[in-house]
Amino acid sequence: MRALIVAGVLAGLGSAAAIANAAPWPWSNTHLTPDRRAQLVLHAMTPAEKRRLIFGYFGAPMPGTSYRPPPGARMGEAGYVPGIARLGIPPQWISDGGLGVATQRVSTDAYRERTALPSGLATAATWNPSLAAQGGAMIGAEAHASGFNVLLGPGADLIRESRGGRSFEYASEDPLLTGMIAGATIRGIQSQHVIAVLKHFAFNDQETGRAIYDVRIPHAAARESDLLGFEIAMEQGHPGALMCAYNRVRGHYACENHWLLRRVLDRDFGFRGYVMSDWGAVHSTVRSALAGLDQESATIFDHEPYYGAALRKALRDGRVPGSVLDEMAERILRSMFATGLVDHPIDPGAHLDLAADQAVAEADEQQGIVLLKNAASVLPFPRTLQRIAVIGGHADRGVLSGGGSSTVFPVGVNAVPGLGPSGWPGPQVYLPSAPLGALMAEAPQARFRYASGRNLTEAIGVARWANRVIVFATQWATESEDSSLELRHGQDRLIAAIAAANPRTVVVLETGGPVLMPWLDRVAGVLEAWYPGSDGATAIARVVFGAVDPSGHLPVTFPASVADLPFPILPGSELPANQPFVIDYSREGAAVGYRWYQRRQREPLFPFGYGLSYTRFAYDGLTARLVNGDLVVQFTVRNTGSRAGVAVAQVYVGSDEGGGETPRRLVGWRKLALRPGESRTVSVRVDPRLLARIGRRSRRWVRAAGAYRLWLGDSSAHLVQSMSVDLPAWQHSVRWPIAYRTPTPPIARPTH
Ligand code: BGC
Repeated sequence: MRALIVAGVLAGLGSAAAIANAAPWPWSNTHLTPDRRAQLVLHAMTPAEKRRLIFGYFGAPMPGTSYRPPPGARMGEAGYVPGIARLGIPPQWISDGGLGVATQRVSTDAYRERTALPSGLATAATWNPSLAAQGGAMIGAEAHASGFNVLLGPGADLIRESRGGRSFEYASEDPLLTGMIAGATIRGIQSQHVIAVLKHFAFNDQETGRAIYDVRIPHAAARESDLLGFEIAMEQGHPGALMCAYNRVRGHYACENHWLLRRVLDRDFGFRGYVMSDWGAVHSTVRSALAGLDQESATIFDHEPYYGAALRKALRDGRVPGSVLDEMAERILRSMFATGLVDHPIDPGAHLDLAADQAVAEADEQQGIVLLKNAASVLPFPRTLQRIAVIGGHADRGVLSGGGSSTVFPVGVNAVPGLGPSGWPGPQVYLPSAPLGALMAEAPQARFRYASGRNLTEAIGVARWANRVIVFATQWATESEDSSLELRHGQDRLIAAIAAANPRTVVVLETGGPVLMPWLDRVAGVLEAWYPGSDGATAIARVVFGAVDPSGHLPVTFPASVADLPFPILPGSELPANQPFVIDYSREGAAVGYRWYQRRQREPLFPFGYGLSYTRFAYDGLTARLVNGDLVVQFTVRNTGSRAGVAVAQVYVGSDEGGGETPRRLVGWRKLALRPGESRTVSVRVDPRLLARIGRRSRRWVRAAGAYRLWLGDSSAHLVQSMSVDLPAWQHSVRWPIAYRTPTPPIARPTH
């Protein structure tokens, strides 16, 4: 991978220098700022050229229509915007997505084989922004080498809905964790001179009715929750572009939402990039243009091409001032210069080191797997085991991935073809990384037997024969439909029957999000492997046999019952398909996920932040001080077990009375690899916004003076030490630039 990146950078520098020397244009001067370069080229453009930049095409033929993408588009790309060759402005070749270079499915035999990262939840479960950046750099490099210079991802919507069909593309229910992981992914992608498109702005938290529902949420609660996740991601990653969502927010479609795009994004966050629409999310010309939508994507998906003839007319008769068109084009150009699209032209012929890229995905999965249960230390499996049964989940063939636009077609074949749906958002793709084979490679002396699980009697027989059993349970989740907390296809029944046959049963879950586990008391162990990504089976096998200590922690609450969700009945699910509806988030407000459970005093199945290790850690020495006005928390973590392991020490803060209106929230963490007996004292600086509320009228972050309670532990529910700290009052305008920014971890480039 490093070879690939270095080669890419050198090639890029070479071409930048060549452009600077040879090109006749003043904006080729790489010493000028991106703003200046954008202004210079803008002044040289005709109105038609400016309009060309803001009008997107779908990059693939539309099945069942005569639509064909314009010449210049790449096979199976999500979007295409022609360039302006006479001015040296390249086309925008746009690919999904945040988990790897996807292919818009044209036909089953035409797709691009690329490396799939584990799901977004898996990456967030690493609690390791460096890994997220490394994954971003890997998929950015693959995009660049595949001829793409815009990548549609990552997603940063908060997981408010446990059944959300796209949770696997997102990071977490917590704004800090979401922002840090998504921001790091953006940094990685853009380090390869590919624009990252942060999406879906905002509140696209469920798929049911995604194009017609209207999210109602008070301004302050919105800013303290979902919008804070986006804000932190933007500070961390500076995405070149942002995708507005399908849904309405506070009465207006997100892509024509003045409050979201002009007030929050432009004025408060100081966003300098461009806003592009989701595919089919535009509903107007003038309203959208004035609200701040800079580019209409894949216009064939909208009811009409709003930024085509209709915009020309609106510009002619003055309903949209020419300055608005200038601003749209300038923002796009600025991001192209800032990210290096112009100076580092894509090279579709570049060599891809797919084996090295796969190792990046595998490293991510290794740290993202969460050990949820380990009764009597059933895990790790001793390598001396004689008989191991592997049951279900197509574990003899591959690992599952999520559906919809983010689907990455694997290197090699879909390991389990034909599972449907045959059209979009299918097919279900199993990456050809077989857990059975990977487990066998880890324990060559053991005998293995596999049962698909379709025949219960056979599976029970195999389970009885074995010293240990691993049941793989899968749940396909996809864009465009929400999921279920219940494992489908009778898998709960299968697991219960296997556990009854052999109590030394471990369940490995490959799910898009949380699931219920009615069999939990009967199995010995549970690993949540999410969608494991390319070569994810190796990561699973290494954790099972203890070559790797499980260090993933849940980025999302696993509820104990559907009745405990903020909306036990999924909003919109009981309405006719096209009937618009309101989702009223004031029910939970900013208390999303674990904060909702705390406030309602409901005990989840597994709390946010939870994850076991093969060793044990002790947490103590909690102290706090103010450094230049910032709260700095210090503590010590010690490995008290006999194996090396990795701790995720978490700090939470709430009001000193606890509970009530402001349940405690995550304000920082440290992930630490410790040898047996080793201890380390570390500190965390707390972003003051995490202790503040948005003033009802003042448009300021406001922290009241008083006593706050700090907690230290290894999950939101397991807090081993706490202390009270007196903090002075603090306020800051909600407008950028905020005095404080969460320190940005460096980008860890792939090292092999
Ligand atoms: C999705 C986006 C995606 C776009 C292009 C839409 O259906 O919501 O996330 O980037 O399609 O494929």
